[in-house]
Amino acid sequence: MEIMRVLVITGAGISAESGIPTFRGKDGYWRNLDPMQLATPEAFARNPRLVWEWYNERREKIRAAQPNPAHEAIVDLAARARDLLLVTQNVDDLHLRAGLTPDKMVQIHGDIFVNRCSGCANEWRTNLGDADIDQSRLAGARHSMGDDLLECDRCGGLMRPGVVWFGEMLDPRKIDAVEEYLSRGDTDLTLVVGTTALFGYILDWATRPSKRLVEINPEMTPISRFAAEKISEPAAKALPRLISEMFGATGK
Ligand code: OAD
Repeated sequence: MEIMRVLVITGAGISAESGIPTFRGKDGYWRNLDPMQLATPEAFARNPRLVWEWYNERREKIRAAQPNPAHEAIVDLAARARDLLLVTQNVDDLHLRAGLTPDKMVQIHGDIFVNRCSGCANEWRTNLGDADIDQSRLAGARHSMGDDLLECDRCGGLMRPGVVWFGEMLDPRKIDAVEEYLSRGDTDLTLVVGTTALFGYILDWATRPSKRLVEINPEMTPISRFAAEKISEPAAKALPRLISEMFGATGK
């Protein structure tokens, strides 16, 4: 089967079966924790140590997790599609570790493994254990708020996680990358997986002209009424099956 232009949009639900909590689901982070205390610039200004503790815990959980068959199915789809763009709200690296190349991916809410300066544009990504990379940075960096907090080696600002917090703008270069892809024509397939789609830009991108809009999510979302097909099953089960149905029984 000749295929095509594909837009894939994912959210926390695709990583749920890898053992990473969602935000709003059962056992989701926002069921027990207050986003206003952990995921806003004000929270970071008030208590950077508390914010870093939460992000460091999440980094550990993500490092210990493995991509699941849903992440792998998207890599398979990318290999068969003429053109594919993944827009993920996830800050984890499971799409990347499953083998999707960065040129096919926009992490619209940032990357949890990036440390970014809260004062200037300086940032670096750590693939090493935090201890390794951060100790080397810490050697010359002692901050007034505490010596376990990272300081920018260019401007002395406090380093923060490279993610988008509530009340912050999306990176305009990332928006441009999505818009550029969508401006090149309708998609043959738009696939929306594991997101509550509460943000207007997600609903907007998901509902741009497409020959086929498929949603995979056990729950109903604002996307559901637009979807030609709604698969109410976990992604690790439904996504590999969908791809193998599209490309024939072997899935290859
Ligand atoms: P949510 O936690 O809001 O939603 C997770 C979605 O995944 C829900 O709709 C679930 O029904 C669905 N789900 C759960 N398990 C699933 C499975 N095994 N297979 C398929 N779907 C499953 O997460 P997001 O929509 O990603 O942003 O949240 C969007 C943003 O809100 C996040 O990026 C984060 C959060 O606050 C920021 O921090 C800026």
